[in-house]
Amino acid sequence: MRIDILTLFPEMFGGVFSASMLGRAQAGGLVEIHVHNIRDYTDNKHKKADDYPFGGGAGLILMAQPIFDCMDAVLAGEPARRILLTPRGRTLNQKIAKELSQEDRLVLLCGHYEGVDERVMNIIDDEISIGDYVLTGGELPAMVLADCLSRLIPGVLGSEESAADESFSDGMLEYPQYTRPASFRGMDVPEVLLNGHHAKIQAWRLEQARLKTALNRPDLLKEETKKGEVIEAPDDAWL
Ligand code: ADE
Repeated sequence: MRIDILTLFPEMFGGVFSASMLGRAQAGGLVEIHVHNIRDYTDNKHKKADDYPFGGGAGLILMAQPIFDCMDAVLAGEPARRILLTPRGRTLNQKIAKELSQEDRLVLLCGHYEGVDERVMNIIDDEISIGDYVLTGGELPAMVLADCLSRLIPGVLGSEESAADESFSDGMLEYPQYTRPASFRGMDVPEVLLNGHHAKIQAWRLEQARLKTALNRPDLLKEETKKGEVIEAPDDAWL
């Protein structure tokens, strides 16, 4: 997958994309990420990329011209799904992430300041929000989306990690995990995890996942679960 990011703040992306999983995914040629500075495409001598809103109001609006020219230059006639990161988009979840991870090429446009000239919507296919809160711009959301999509691309996660995603706990929050030592500052790892009895371990994990989900995210469980009946993964399964 290739991801192009259009932003006024390219310097924000360096660390996030070179470290850890995203760094490895790029080094291994599984994901290609290119960051472009919208300001480089301004056609005025002050390199101004934003201006006051017609009709008045607070803040500055990202201008259409540098965004159109940046998009044209980046795509050079090639197809891609073009996404604007904005709090008014549809809210990102795992189902949307899976759908977007099937694309060969994405362009992520980071909105900034008080908004983007609405005419830009003519070159946008999708609007994505990462949650019902407002950030200073679309840069962090673009990083979140790129990270979330990359780990869904085959080969980016090791085979052990991908297998864990397919586990019975789909549709629920993750069960508690422990590593060595078995006893730490008087806190002991649950006995069931130490005895190597696979079926009992699975049953314990399922129960713990249910409890955690009922406590923190009861909305993920179906109605019948709340009444104490069978648990099924919801249609928009978590993982
Ligand atoms: N820009 C500002 N806030 C945002 C959000 N919550 N999601 C996506 N883009 C944003």
